Amino acid sequence: MKIAVIPGDGIGVEVMEAALHILNTLDLDLEFIHADAGDACLKRTGAALPEETLEAVGEARATLFGAAGESAADVIVRLRREFDLFANLRPVKSLPGVPCLYPDLDFVIVRENTEDLYVGDEEYTPDGAVAKRIITRTASRRISQFAFQYAQKEGMQKVTAVHKANVLKKTDGIFRDEFYKVASEYPQMEANDYYVDATAMYLITQPQEFQTIVTTNLFGDILSDEAAGLIGGLGLAPSANIGEKNALFEPVHGSAPQIAGKNIANPTAMILTTTLMLKHLNKKQEAQKIEKALQKTLAEGLVTPDLGGKLGTMEMAVEIARHLED
Ligand code: NAI
Ligand code: MG
Repeated sequence: MKIAVIPGDGIGVEVMEAALHILNTLDLDLEFIHADAGDACLKRTGAALPEETLEAVGEARATLFGAAGESAADVIVRLRREFDLFANLRPVKSLPGVPCLYPDLDFVIVRENTEDLYVGDEEYTPDGAVAKRIITRTASRRISQFAFQYAQKEGMQKVTAVHKANVLKKTDGIFRDEFYKVASEYPQMEANDYYVDATAMYLITQPQEFQTIVTTNLFGDILSDEAAGLIGGLGLAPSANIGEKNALFEPVHGSAPQIAGKNIANPTAMILTTTLMLKHLNKKQEAQKIEKALQKTLAEGLVTPDLGGKLGTMEMAVEIARHLED
């Protein structure tokens, strides 16, 4: 099975190397095809997302992506749209032994990935600028269906739509409308909806109440970083971008230039990202094996400085790989 691997920039390169070390320890029958993208690639080749990289992603069964730097909009946002990776899945799961605000969370944010303000259609006006917000019935229905199917598959009972339809009456009105139409096809599941501002507060005051959140692109981007903060930070948050044909897996964090090159980046988000990929490839047992080894390593405090440990990025990965054999 071909897997495209795009380390990208900054800590993307470091955490990718660590995650591949763990994958290579298992007998997975995966062929890794390395591809270039990001700031360094732009500098070297004149393109942040070269044609060969697009081809590699198109031909691969799945893609692993580290992080891009300032060219992120031209790289990751473009990849999501180019391959119609319409669903951005961001699990929020507390990890044992990791100091965080809530040690008992397990929910998921499903973010629509192709439209909303992120179509980037902005225009200057005499006194400022306007941005176009695109919300379609098709995409709203498709992301709602994905959310209910995912929730059902994972044994969850509730899906919550998040929007601002009291102010954005037309765009978010359509999103909420399509959500409830899809919900009616899942009578055994509970469906409810909240305004995004209230949700930002509920995530802090009563996050245990959520199971699956489904929301539009910008709100999903913001709320998922907030949610990462509940479980210990960006170094721990994985994500998947899923389309009909292709799928791309990446940590929520970026290239983190402040800590890049210091061998202190936490590889956990990237490693959990690979477990999302393995589950997508129907390699659930292998994914669980990595999760268990990671949990043991975290519980023993064999971690990077952001979690109070002394290990470097690859050193932590070596410990996790060692625990795979337990
Ligand atoms: P960031 O996620 O790169 O880093 C923010 C802060 O979070 C870091 O300074 C660090 O303190 C912490 N952090 C993140 N990942 C960590 C890890 N694995 N281990 C330990 N600490 C970690 O976000 P920032 O600083 O806003 O953006 C930096 C660059 O990344 C920008 O050029 C931005 O465009 C790009 N970016 C790319 C993304 C992508 O490729 N998908 C996503 C977000 C940002
Ligand atoms: Mg973000």
